[in-house]
Amino acid sequence: MSVYSGLTDPAARPNILCDLRSDTVTRPDAAMRRAMAAAEVGDDVYGDDPEVNLLQAELAAMLGKEAGLFVPSGTQGNLVAIMCHCGRGDEVIVGADYHVFHDEAAGASVLAGVALHPLPLTATGGLAPDAIRRALRPDDPHYPVSRLLSLENTVGGRAIPLDDMRASAAAAREAGLAVHLDGARFFNAITALGCPATDLAGLADTVSVCLSKGLGAPVGSVLAGPAGLIDRARRHRKILGGGMRQAGVLAAAGRHALRHHVAGLAADHARARTFADALAALGAGRVRCETNMVFFTPADGANAHLRKRLSERGLLIGGGSGEIRMVLHRDIDDAGLAHAIAAFRAHYGG
Ligand SMILES: Cc1ncc(COP(=O)(O)O)c(C=O)c1O
Repeated sequence: MSVYSGLTDPAARPNILCDLRSDTVTRPDAAMRRAMAAAEVGDDVYGDDPEVNLLQAELAAMLGKEAGLFVPSGTQGNLVAIMCHCGRGDEVIVGADYHVFHDEAAGASVLAGVALHPLPLTATGGLAPDAIRRALRPDDPHYPVSRLLSLENTVGGRAIPLDDMRASAAAAREAGLAVHLDGARFFNAITALGCPATDLAGLADTVSVCLSKGLGAPVGSVLAGPAGLIDRARRHRKILGGGMRQAGVLAAAGRHALRHHVAGLAADHARARTFADALAALGAGRVRCETNMVFFTPADGANAHLRKRLSERGLLIGGGSGEIRMVLHRDIDDAGLAHAIAAFRAHYGG
């Protein structure tokens, strides 16, 4: 069973009271839908959509970057960034567990002719400067050309300390590499780190931020970076089929999320901590908590059985046979959290 498993029985949806599979399951609330309905739109491929233009400019300004580009997904944001920084035969140094390497179907290699060079993560989820230096290719026709370091924060929910990120970026820059940050959960990271957005974003040349995860928008990411690079990114987005027309209805959801949903991420983190503590008290397995994510490894290894029983109680959890991921998000309020805890207690007799 994939870690990313869908509802096998769609008829079961009305009985789902609490969906912890991911923060991507969040649905636009009434206020966001009103913002979407009210959006003034135009053809964004012509650059005519006012909402898209505002979203791009606003998020770029928040990150301290010159320009932004609205793209349909985080995967496309990362790929477009790689296509801007690298040509065919170039290489990206990346974490072996990072989404770009592990979960994007090797798109950089398949579509852009770019090699990915995975490194093991450090204990904090970052990339060790020495490992980056060792991964750099000598100037030799046998090798691809080291061109880009691709970082990520948060990583599996972990907020990597700024000093670690800074040291990794410095090792890359000393060798003339550019730095990209996959900030799918950028705002979770800065919430946990307690730093301004520009402190984290400033470590990278380009940053991709997802609006469709904990921020609760239905679709979309923004790639932010230098104006000239973002001009080129527009062509790559077009090549990848990511040019959208009256995308303002989606951008309006993103703008609404940036204005109204960032502050709520701290509550998701706090609920994750409460949930993790309640699970730990059951003594039924190993528990760890990172920002808005809780990971549970059942001591009895009966993951599939647990998943089935919890779904019968209206609770959906992540897939897989090892650590089970559960993600707190804005569609889980205190009542939802209480339901999740009660379902686990009922299962384990706690
Ligand atoms: C760290 C990270 N990067 C990128 C992505 C890709 O985002 P999308 O699903 O919008 O393509 C995800 C998705 O979960 C992610 O967790």
